[in-house]
Formats: sequence, C-alpha cells, structure tokens
Amino acid sequence: MSAEGDAKKRLAAQAALDYVEDGAVIGVGTGSTVNLFIEALIQCRQRVRAAISSSNASTQRLIAGGITVLDLNDVDELGVYVDGADEATRARHLIKGGGAALTREKIIAAAAACFVCIADETKVVERLGTFPLPIEVIPMARSLVARRLSAYGGRPVWRQGIVTDNGNHILDVHGLTIDDPPAMERELNQLAGVVTVGLFALRPADVLIVGTGQGIQVLQ
Ligand code: 5RP
Repeated sequence: MSAEGDAKKRLAAQAALDYVEDGAVIGVGTGSTVNLFIEALIQCRQRVRAAISSSNASTQRLIAGGITVLDLNDVDELGVYVDGADEATRARHLIKGGGAALTREKIIAAAAACFVCIADETKVVERLGTFPLPIEVIPMARSLVARRLSAYGGRPVWRQGIVTDNGNHILDVHGLTIDDPPAMERELNQLAGVVTVGLFALRPADVLIVGTGQGIQVLQ
C-alpha cells in the first residue's frame, strides 16, 4: 500500500478511538488497518481495561504494546469492536477474511454491541464480490465445499499454505455475483464443512469509517 493509502487507513483508525469508552474492554480485529488502530490505542492504553483479539497476530501486537488481552469467555459484555474489511458497501455489508481471521472476527462482531469498521476509500464498492469471498472450511471438507460453491457460479481457490488460527483451511471464491449479501451468507452458512463465510451482512458493521483524500466519511 502506498504512503497515501496508509494515510487514509490511519485517518480511519485514529477516528475509531472516538468510539472507545474509558475503562472498557474492546474487541480488536486483524489486518494492516487495524494495526494502525492498535498503534493509536497503545498511545492511550490507560483508557482501556483490556482487549479481546481476533487473531494471534493482533494478540501479539496488543500484548507487546502493554494492553491486556482477555478470553471472550471471561467477558460478559463487549461494547465496541474495531476491525477492517476487504470490501464494504454503503449499507455496511462487508467482505472480510483476507487476513484469514474471519471466524474469530465474526464471533467478536456477534458479541459486540457496536461494530466499527475502518477502511480506506478503495474498499468501498457498489456491489460486493470483486474481492474473492473467503470461506473457512474444515480441512476434510475442502473439496466437497469447493464443488458445492461452484454451483453458485463461483470459482473457489484453495489458499494453499494457510492454516487458520483454528486449524482450518480457506477457500477464496472468485467471480460470485452477490446481489443479496444477507441471503447469500445465510445460504452458504448451511453447507456442511463450512465454518465461516466471509460475508458480514446478517450482522453488518454499525459504523463504517472511511479514510479519504478529503478526511473521514462516517456511514452509520
Ligand atoms: C482479516 C480481515 C481484515 O480486516 C481485512 O483483510 C482487511 O485487511 P487490511 O486492513 O489489511 O486491508 O478481514 O481477516
């Protein structure tokens, strides 16, 4: 990503701090945009009690920055969750999972009262699906799920060499026409062997902060 792209991500990441309540436990996602959020959070780490992390990579960064990381099982209520996206619509439907952390991301999004998505303007699209849709699958079901996905007009490609934090595989589905994201998410969730579909539409972001050349744009 160019310095200009990084600056837009940083704008969105910095703006997300406004949603962090003092003394709260906050959810933290994964990816290069979130890494900028973590950097900003570390600068004011005394503001938060702890974090719930969506990946081993983010956990390492948080701990290195002096932020306590808790297990979601030990937290009754989660206020805000900050995470990035690979694609986002103005309706705040997302494709996520480019960093292979989609399962924990979806769990934390489900647990959080407010999901704040941060992205640079290149991520905003009219219709989802140009970015290949990541799907986490149980390894023994990889070929079965891939055959089933072909029936939806998609071209699943195994992300070889990647094992998720949960020990599973990722299929990236190219060429899908996603006209109705919640319906497609619901349908693909039903396939045996699918752990998580990288569509975040049944539980969309509540707030989408977009970093642009002219500052931030907030969709909510
Ligand atoms: C990881 C994700 C990320 O949020 C997504 O890939 C965006 O990453 P980046 O901020 O690096 O563009 O879903 O699983």
